[in-house]
Amino acid sequence: MRTLPPAVETGFRTLESAGSFGVAEDDLPERVARVLRDNFAFACSLISATDTGPAVEIEPITGSASWPVVAGNPIARLSRFTAIRAENGKLLMESPLATHRAIVRDGELLSALTALTGAARCATLPSGPALAALASCGLIATADDDGGFTEDASLWSFHDLQSWWRSRPGLHDYPVGASSDRVMHRSGSRPDGFRPGEAITLPPVDLTRLRSADVTLTEAIEQRRSTREFGRPITAGELGELLYRAVGARDRGRAYPAAGGIDELTVYLAVGRCTGLPSGVYRYLPAEHALAPKEDRFDPAVLLAAAKGVAGAPQRPDVLVVLTSRTSELAGKYQGLGYSLTLRNTGVVYQNLYLVAAAMGLAACALGFGDNALIQRALSLRFPEEIPVGEFMLGTRQEMQTD
Ligand SMILES: Cc1cc2nc3c(=O)[nH]c(=O)nc-3n(C[C@H](O)[C@H](O)[C@H](O)COP(=O)(O)O)c2cc1C
Repeated sequence: MRTLPPAVETGFRTLESAGSFGVAEDDLPERVARVLRDNFAFACSLISATDTGPAVEIEPITGSASWPVVAGNPIARLSRFTAIRAENGKLLMESPLATHRAIVRDGELLSALTALTGAARCATLPSGPALAALASCGLIATADDDGGFTEDASLWSFHDLQSWWRSRPGLHDYPVGASSDRVMHRSGSRPDGFRPGEAITLPPVDLTRLRSADVTLTEAIEQRRSTREFGRPITAGELGELLYRAVGARDRGRAYPAAGGIDELTVYLAVGRCTGLPSGVYRYLPAEHALAPKEDRFDPAVLLAAAKGVAGAPQRPDVLVVLTSRTSELAGKYQGLGYSLTLRNTGVVYQNLYLVAAAMGLAACALGFGDNALIQRALSLRFPEEIPVGEFMLGTRQEMQTD
């Protein structure tokens, strides 16, 4: 085991005891000061700034944070992946591409940043050293030798990259994962707008018969395909069987595995053509294996037509399944992971729906998105407590035309 030379150890203890008050460079042993100067050159110049304190504080957010000093006076621009936002009374600059976070404390620096929405040389702007420090840690992008910016070639959107970065640990210091200190966020009773008292009970499903008569898993996987053309109307019996088998209640929870086992997903249906079931908008009640109708009789054709448009399908599906999530219930248990986990749970439900539909010979097609405003209105959802996360089209296959 290697031990630190006493002078270095004393230096670090000096820094530690100085806490947020800071410490003058002269008060540090030369060796410690040199390491800091070499690696944090710009930060050192800022720490010794003015009576009013530094223009910016820069702190590492990962264990692997490094500070590759940008030499010279490069052409720079505020990175399109950098967010400037307020938290706990501080103005933060953060980026998934940076190993440090900056706390902006100075109005002059802030106005210099507005000048960097276009490319400029840091040194020509007010707060030049602070801007150079931000460039060193990647919060400001620097141009290549040919004047271009590498990030311009990236197909990442700001929001996708932020979402990926924050939903996995390692590259930031925000809490992620199961919390011992679980915050219970129960939205209480389900949102209004549906009539559970008038729920239509779906036909029971005979699992004993299915266990012997059903196609094999291999057959279901091999038969499965996305189908956007539909045959005769689906029946209430088929719809009920599909719902029970794919997302129904079981003694141990639900028919599908779900991160957290919290049951944050709810299944809604826009039913157009269905033999034995009036057209309408419904919420599936897994415990009762029943469908609660929507109070306001929202026209399901609007949702079905929108789904047809998303799929570029020649006709509307008979039924559109809409999955919604009370994501904060997951976030209360798995800090920072609520949205990313609920999307995975949605994918699991998609696959169950696909495979059960294949086993039953039904037509099914997942959709990548739906119109948030339309679905919010159709289902009377309270945003952001309950948000749409998945849409799935159902019907019968054309070869299933009846005699
Ligand atoms: C998450 C997900 C999103 C999808 N989104 C759409 C969509 O928006 N429109 C569509 O027509 N098909 C959509 N699909 C179906 C895919 O296009 C389809 O699965 C893929 O082309 C492979 O074809 P196959 O399912 O027949 O094997 C989606 C599938 C998944 C799993």
